[in-house]
Amino acid sequence: MSEHRKVTLETLREMKAAGKPAAGVSCYTAPDAALAAEAGVDFIVVGDSLAMTLLGFDSTLPATMEMMELFVAATRRGLTGSAPLVVGDMPLGSYQISDESAVENACRLLRAGADIVKIEGSSQLVQARIQAITEAGIGVMAHLGLQPQQKALVGGWKVQGKTCEAATALYDQIRDVCNEGAQVVLVEAVPREAAAWLHSGMQANFDAPVPLFGIGAGVDVDGQLLVMADLVGEFRPFKSRFAKRYAEVSSMKLAALSKYVGEVSNRSFPDDATSYSMDAKELERLKS
Ligand code: KIV
Repeated sequence: MSEHRKVTLETLREMKAAGKPAAGVSCYTAPDAALAAEAGVDFIVVGDSLAMTLLGFDSTLPATMEMMELFVAATRRGLTGSAPLVVGDMPLGSYQISDESAVENACRLLRAGADIVKIEGSSQLVQARIQAITEAGIGVMAHLGLQPQQKALVGGWKVQGKTCEAATALYDQIRDVCNEGAQVVLVEAVPREAAAWLHSGMQANFDAPVPLFGIGAGVDVDGQLLVMADLVGEFRPFKSRFAKRYAEVSSMKLAALSKYVGEVSNRSFPDDATSYSMDAKELERLKS
């Protein structure tokens, strides 16, 4: 078990300065958050991926503020005392309408237990929201590269920043969101060479140090994120190239459930060890 401490944005900047990569997971429940903290994870993203990995939708689009609040609160309840930084994801529709409703929804996630919020994109509209949210005193992680909420617009889940032009455009987007106040940037599904180039460009040219984290962006960034359901082998519909499986929890669950079904049908469960028994005298009385 690693040392327990409260991770803040400042901690993440210190880790970047020290060249120590941060480890993050997307997870959503109290038991998973407790395990992540015990394993020494530095930040938890309560992501709208829960719509897919937990609730069975085929995209992140159906996630609502109510769902996000429920799972941010559950995650926070799983963390006692010192803990990873909790990032609450802003679902589709929670920031597009106006600066005011974006700030209100970011406040809802903080009231539920998040430390900062995550917002996808870098359009003028998103930049305005990032500015409004950070001016309200709330930290923002900007999510660039592959943005699952834009899946329909970009024609599916595709690797981003593959050409010189695309990588340069991504750099400009990172610069724009950081100028509006984003304190952390997450890039998803970007070639490792492009991510390394973005990282060194930010290092050389940005006034303030902004940690650059990656999910599917190679090793040359300030930290990694994986979705816990991918990492433990619980999400089965498809597997992204970057989603390394460290365990096969689904197979273990399936084996346990199949064994249970077998034991119920052959009456070997429940046995004496898993049943309550009645006092012999009471049983006698009952029979008579
Ligand atoms: O929703 C989520 O968990 C995320 C990460 C996969 C980046 O946005």
